Parts: sequence; C-alpha cells; structure tokens
Amino acid sequence: MAIQTIPTQPITGQRPGTSGLRKKVSTFLQPLYLENFVQALFDVLNHTTPDGQGLAGQTLVLGGDGRYHNRAAVQTILRLAAANGVARVLLGQGGILSTPAVSAVIRRHKAFGGIVLSASHNPGGPEGDFGIKYNAGNGGPANETLTQAVYARTLTISAIRTTDTPDIGMNQLGTQQVEQMQVEVIDPVADYAAVMRELFDFELIRSMFKNGFTMRMDTMWAVGGPYAKAILEGELGAPAGTVVNGEPLEDFGGLHPDPNPVNAEELIAHMRGAASPDFGAATDGDADRNMVVGRDFVVSPSDSLAVMTARATQIPGYHAGLAGVARSMPTSAAVDRVAKALGIECFETPTGWKFFGNLLDAGRVTLCGEESYGTGSDHVREKDGLWAVLFWLNLQGATGRSVESLVREHWQTYGRNIYSRHDYEGIPVDVANALMADLRAALPGLQGQYFGKRHIVTADDFSYTDPVDHSVSSGQGVRLIFNDGARVVFRLSGTGTEGATLRLYLERYESDTTLQDGPVQYALAELVALADAVAGIRARTGMAIPTVMT
Ligand code: G1P
Ligand code: ZN
Repeated sequence: MAIQTIPTQPITGQRPGTSGLRKKVSTFLQPLYLENFVQALFDVLNHTTPDGQGLAGQTLVLGGDGRYHNRAAVQTILRLAAANGVARVLLGQGGILSTPAVSAVIRRHKAFGGIVLSASHNPGGPEGDFGIKYNAGNGGPANETLTQAVYARTLTISAIRTTDTPDIGMNQLGTQQVEQMQVEVIDPVADYAAVMRELFDFELIRSMFKNGFTMRMDTMWAVGGPYAKAILEGELGAPAGTVVNGEPLEDFGGLHPDPNPVNAEELIAHMRGAASPDFGAATDGDADRNMVVGRDFVVSPSDSLAVMTARATQIPGYHAGLAGVARSMPTSAAVDRVAKALGIECFETPTGWKFFGNLLDAGRVTLCGEESYGTGSDHVREKDGLWAVLFWLNLQGATGRSVESLVREHWQTYGRNIYSRHDYEGIPVDVANALMADLRAALPGLQGQYFGKRHIVTADDFSYTDPVDHSVSSGQGVRLIFNDGARVVFRLSGTGTEGATLRLYLERYESDTTLQDGPVQYALAELVALADAVAGIRARTGMAIPTVMT
C-alpha cells in the first residue's frame, strides 16, 4: 500500500461555525488546508468511538452541493479516508449530494457518518465560499463536543495520512477501489426520494398536477435541481419546466443561492398577478433551506413552521400527531401558540440545526424550524428544503386551499406574530464585537425599562441547557422580551466569511385580525427604533439601513 505520512503544521482559524468550517475558496486552496482539517476529523473519529474501533471497517457518506472545488475536494478526502482506515465510501454521483440527502443516505445505510461539502447559501465560484461539515451516524451535524475536539486537534496536528492513488472517476455508478477502500458511486436522489415517498401522498400530488395545478420551483442553479426534477417532474408528473434554474452550476450562475424574497427576487416576480402559478418555492445551495410562496403572498419561515405544526395530521407521515416541536430562539413564537393548543412540548434552542439533533433522536420533537428558511422533521437530521415544499404541496391538495388562505386562516385562529430579520453585513469585526459587548454589559440596566407603553420583562443573553445531554451553550444572543410578548434579539452570524454580520430579529404579536395585514416593516418600526436606541447600530456601523431585510 502506498500510504504516505506528510508532515504538517497547525493552521489557525479552523474553528467550525454555526454549520461546519466555511471559508473563502482561496483559503481552502492553501496548501494542506483541507487536508489538515480532514485529518483532524479522522484523528478524532479514530480515537473517540466507544468500541475503540475507530474508522476501521466503517462506511462514510460523501457528497456536496457541486460548488467550485467540490470535485477536487472529493478526491483529496477519498485519499485521506483510505489512508485512515475507512472501509467504504458511498459517494454521490458527480460528487453531488444535497445536505438532506447525505442525512438520508447515512440513516438508510446505517453508515458511520458522512461529510458534506457545502457553504450552503453562500455564493460559490473561485471568488466565493467553500465549506466542509461532518455528520454523525444519526445523520445530523456533529455535536458541540465532537466539533470542539476536531478544532482542538487542528491546533496540534503534525502529520497527514494519505495515499498517492490517482483520482477516481465519479460520473459512473458502480464500485471502485482507493487502496483497500471501496468507493461506491451512488444515485444521489434514490434514497432521498424513497424517504419522501414514505411521508407524502404522492398519488394526491400526482392528481393535482394532472388536473392543472401549476407550480414554479426555483432551485437557484444549485444542488436542489436534480432532486426537484426527479421527484416533481419525474415522479409526480409536474410539467417539464416546473423546475427552473435546475442545473447545479459551480458558481450558482453568479447569484446568491438563498431562498428569501431578496435573493430569490426572480421567483417573487413570477408569483405576482392572477396569471402566476398556484404555488412557488425555492431551495438554497445545498437544498436544505426553503421558501414557500403563494400567488402574491410570501410565507415567512416562522409562520410556515406554525402552519405545518397545526396541520401536520393532514399529511400521511405525521397522521399520528407530533411528539413535540422545536424552534431556534430568534424564530418567532408563532409555533409556540400552536404547540400550546395541541398540548405538545415546544423547545427553544440556540441558532443552528445541530441543537435539534438530541431532541429528534430522543423522540421529543417531530418538527423543527428556524426563521432562516429552515424547516424539517425527524425523517432526517438536517433541515430539508424539498421536504418542506412537498409538505405544502400535500397540504394544498389535502385541504383544497391556497397557500394564502391557509396562512390567513392560521392568523385568524392563533393571531399573527409579525416578524422580520434585519442583517447588517460586512461590519468590521471589532465594531460588531464592541456593540455586542456593550449590549451585554447594559443588560442589567435594561431590565424593567419602559419604552413608551412597553417595558422589558427579560433582558438576557440566551443560554441553553440541552434537555437530553445537559450540555450548556451560553452567549447565544441578546434578548429583550417585552410585557406584550414583543421581542428584539441581537446576535452575530456564525456562518459569514467576511467581516461580521449583525442580525437583528424583531417580533410583535397581533391578535386583532383587522390589524394583521399592514406592511411588516411599518408594524415593526417602533421596535426598530428601540433597537437602535439601545444598541447604537447606526452610529457604530455608519449604516443607515440594513443590507438585507427579510
Ligand atoms: C445562519 C442562520 C441559522 C442557520 C445557519 C445555517 O446562521 O441564521 O439559522 O442554521 O445559517 O444554515 P448564522 O449566520 O446566523 O450563524
Ligand atoms: Zn443550506
């Protein structure tokens, strides 16, 4: 065997963020950058398995969102895997697997874990971002303990184990060898589609399309394309052309593959007017995010989670009801009201899908979601874009109602949590850190303070104790909670690669149905002013308005 040991030195800055290690492509192209991180991961995996067996004899799943550097990274990782004792790799054809598909493949094949190559919705191409993320045997993102261990290892690493085997071909299905390791190139869609078939009423959806239901599914030149085409157009009979921007491109066509009204403005434009399709949807770079759009009507992700929860029993896969639900802290409390009405538990976790894993594994929750266009369930351990789209399709079929009427009826029943997120991108890191530090220092004084008729009942820095493993994650975002349920939340993004991004989350509850319909930004203007008064955002950043409002 031509196993080689290459000396290396620690590279600083390889601490994974909210969702894996994400950096500029140019950073990943530095000599041994990817190798160091992957070797650190394999070192940890080889030393922490309970049976002491490590990676020997194990199967890993590997694939990515097809962005620039995906294919080269696959070859590098295969060589390291072979040299570190992995027995078998299930590799998505062409190096492609969406994030939820990796999760599905790990679970269905009972693999040891998997590696996702993606920077999610961040732009791609040589000037864009790249990323790598490890998922464990439950199909979900590595937990905090493993993540920290890998980071610690990147700071002490001194050698890389690899081989000098040539690149493998990844375009044809079938089995090949890298040293003693088997590489099985698999259909990226098959396992995922099988999971969807188990959850949704495909017959019903097929009949909808047959009867002229129209849809525009925008996969934003990203990895969702092959999945949406195979399932919507292939299996469910949606007319060809239903899926648009469906070829995964290395640079996502130069666009920002994030399904929100700002970045998916083309979809929003197509959903205006009486001639627009009945239903619109979009997914992101690695197809785990989703946006759901009705005719002239955009559904906020927090509302989407609440409606899904309220109506879950109308979907075959959730017919028996939900064990509980979870949302990230900055996500609106709309779902809390539904959970209360249903008498099920509702958990509030820090931002990031990894915090849902234990709750899902323990059977405490069935659905979960984040305000950042992420929704999912216990069918995998990632958020799942196309799953959410199929859920809404099935719901429209089962109720015979439009997206808009489903959401409006929900507001009438439960009231509306009017919600918006304001992002201030590209702030100098020290300015952002100082803003947050001063805000944290000001918290004791803010407690009980009046702002007009409202006053603050809780001013804190969110801390979460995992109910399953009791691990504590503190410093997860500053919350100002008011006596009328309104909330203002401040946190810094953990996924950016340039400067810092301040996220300001605003929420206010409106039970009066005659007042639910005005422009969202207008309804939240008082809270925006208050947030600025407290944190001095404009003065400190020099930015008069946010760079993105969703
Ligand atoms: C963002 C979102 C968060 C999501 C993550 C990965 O993280 O806010 O909800 O889980 O991307 O998709 P952030 O940049 O805020 O740390
Ligand atoms: Zn994503």
